[in-house]
Amino acid sequence: MKWKIPLFKMYWDTDDVTRVGEAIKSGMNWAVGPQVGEFEGCIAEYLEMPYCLTFNSGTSALHADLIAHGVGPGDEVIVPSFTFIATANAPRFVGAKPVFADIEPERMGLDSDSVLERISHKTKAIIPVHYGGCPCKIEELRQIADDHNLLLIEDAAEAFGASVSGKKVGSFGDSGMVSFCQNKVITTGEGGAIVTESRDLYEKLKLIRSHGRLETADYFSTTAVMDYVTLGYNFRMSNITAALGLAQINKVDKIIKKRREDAQYYLEKISQNVTEISLPSLPENVFHVYQLFTLCVPQRDNLIKFLEECGIMTKIYFSPVHQTHYYRDVLGYTDELPVTEKAASESISLPFYPGLSRQDMDEVIKSVKTFYGGIR
Ligand SMILES: Cc1ncc(COP(=O)(O)O)c(C=O)c1O
Repeated sequence: MKWKIPLFKMYWDTDDVTRVGEAIKSGMNWAVGPQVGEFEGCIAEYLEMPYCLTFNSGTSALHADLIAHGVGPGDEVIVPSFTFIATANAPRFVGAKPVFADIEPERMGLDSDSVLERISHKTKAIIPVHYGGCPCKIEELRQIADDHNLLLIEDAAEAFGASVSGKKVGSFGDSGMVSFCQNKVITTGEGGAIVTESRDLYEKLKLIRSHGRLETADYFSTTAVMDYVTLGYNFRMSNITAALGLAQINKVDKIIKKRREDAQYYLEKISQNVTEISLPSLPENVFHVYQLFTLCVPQRDNLIKFLEECGIMTKIYFSPVHQTHYYRDVLGYTDELPVTEKAASESISLPFYPGLSRQDMDEVIKSVKTFYGGIR
């Protein structure tokens, strides 16, 4: 379907094209090349972390990270259900069991009490998610992980650049994952990264990312024979992708500024126009980067249909993972997570991206207002 106002669009300029063009025109190093390391250096610097490794997706980054942390069969990993399914699947990739905890309603992140209730002698890690660019209550979760000697692995896929009291998310955990999939804060089409303070973890991740190969040089540009010392995958980001990443990260502050200004515009206008919608408020020290603009609304499913008829795309982020066919019927999960289920039944993500015009935002707001006017 061709939408009059799509949910998202990529933000790009001539620098993206130039940098990708240069990587292609070099005629060399399309797989592994210097831009990969350069991009990793920029991510590490931006998130103020010593080590960063890129991957071909956030999902493979999380998968590799759990292997590197030694999470495996017999372990339990506490995850939210109000997330993209990859958060919960990652423990399953390594033979561990995802255990769903509920979220709190203010920031839609893992609820500390619910997490505490689910800690058992098998629990090895907690994977909190920073939903839609909003930092979860990560300091509380860090404390719980420390108190119970658990790993804290942040799924910051949606929250590149978000922070709490000036500290970027992704840097609170034993490691943090970010995604560069096409609808994220900055994007390389597909891609992801892990940041960590642990040199040991970084070295393990490097092996897992590329076939378990102990690389003494760029594999494709040397006659040196290399050994394979562990089981590994091809989870590498290509050099062409990294070139795009360099162009994107160069404008990340501009992108985030625009996202925050536009979110403010939506928030102000929607609250003026539609009394049915209650707006979230955040503490001063929480820096939201608005990867999504999501509201909880009454009559959500009818609103989606009405906006669809107006040519406006919206989306439900997220339907609970524990209620998917795979988790409920195939794996037999029977959890009841009241806050997750309520949020999932009321939330709607509106069109939102840095190039969205004020005119289109006004049209979305007007259509939402018309809908609620119509049902009064
Ligand atoms: C919360 C969350 N976790 C994990 C992922 C997976 O990232 P990717 O799409 O880069 O594999 C996503 C992306 O959609 C996400 O939103």
